[in-house]
Amino acid sequence: MKKKYIISLLPGDGIGQEISKEALKIINWLSKNTDLKFEINEELVGGSSIDQFGSPLTDKTIQKIKRSDAIILGAVGGPKWEKLSFENRPERGLLKIRKELDLYANFRPALVFDSLINSSSLKPEIIQDLDILIIRELTGGIYFGEPRGVENIDKKNQRGFNTLVYTTQEIERIAKVAFETAMTRSKKLCSVDKANVLESTELWRKVVIETAKKYPDVELSHMYVDNASMQLVRNPKQFDVIVTTNMFGDILSDCASMLTGSLGMLPSASIGISDKGNKKAMYEPVHGSAPDIAGKGIANPLAMILSVSMMLKYSFNNNKLSHLINKAVNSVLEKGFRTNDIFSDGKKRISTSEMGDRVLEELG
Ligand code: IPM
Ligand code: MG
Repeated sequence: MKKKYIISLLPGDGIGQEISKEALKIINWLSKNTDLKFEINEELVGGSSIDQFGSPLTDKTIQKIKRSDAIILGAVGGPKWEKLSFENRPERGLLKIRKELDLYANFRPALVFDSLINSSSLKPEIIQDLDILIIRELTGGIYFGEPRGVENIDKKNQRGFNTLVYTTQEIERIAKVAFETAMTRSKKLCSVDKANVLESTELWRKVVIETAKKYPDVELSHMYVDNASMQLVRNPKQFDVIVTTNMFGDILSDCASMLTGSLGMLPSASIGISDKGNKKAMYEPVHGSAPDIAGKGIANPLAMILSVSMMLKYSFNNNKLSHLINKAVNSVLEKGFRTNDIFSDGKKRISTSEMGDRVLEELG
């Protein structure tokens, strides 16, 4: 008997459309060749939803995706919608999904594939075998804190403001996820904050230290975010699991991604676990909609395909199939196939859809 799951696929904008087609190839392969069966519901989010419905995410869409077993999202945003008011921008659609589904734990692995070691701007010995995981708090902090806005001071001057706020409970639950995850890896956790300047992250540090008492086997360290960004580039292999706030995680994960050579390679999982233990999750590449190359068929679909792999692991507890996809991606790279972003001399340059086909071929 096949296990049946419903997946909401939200391609979004820009290259999101192209890479989603490749993810779909992999999902269809899984439905055909494994004991899992996926029903795919395609929905609009971001600019494409604005164009169709006048809103970056409609209530109807959010109701539908809440009922699915997992969400896969491409990317949102683009110059076409940049002039819209803040509330109506494509990015709001993505943030609304994170918030409404309470997807508070964002997993962003940075893993170096051996065959791409020369695509990084760092020396090979600095990044060889690098395998770190950034756990970013995703539904709190300055991204969602109130009050926020822009107000008039007088005729000439305005005042723009956002609020960085964290509660004990918000910190506790992300810290717990981080410690649990560290336990499954090398039992090393670095919590990144700015406790020397920001009270909210002083609380962050205090709660993380408190939570650590339940995990005596985990070696916990703390770092200020400015130092952490420097250490990430200087000697990234000193880290294993990093846990940090919403905004610091946004910044550090872009930095970490480039250690691996290309932003086009990194998947992510955003997970929410309710008090009853129910899991909700969304999977998306770390990169954005890349409007400059959209529609050209040259985008790298591997981050999106690796996001499907993360879905198998985190939502459907299927490590075996997850590995299978990772292995297929690795083989394609070993054989020298490259999209533009990871291309180097002597390799074979291929298109977005050829890359998807090559991965399929490796899956067999
Ligand atoms: C990310 C992105 C988003 C974020 C944007 C698109 C809202 O940069 O997922 O890292 O800032 O969280
Ligand atoms: Mg980002």
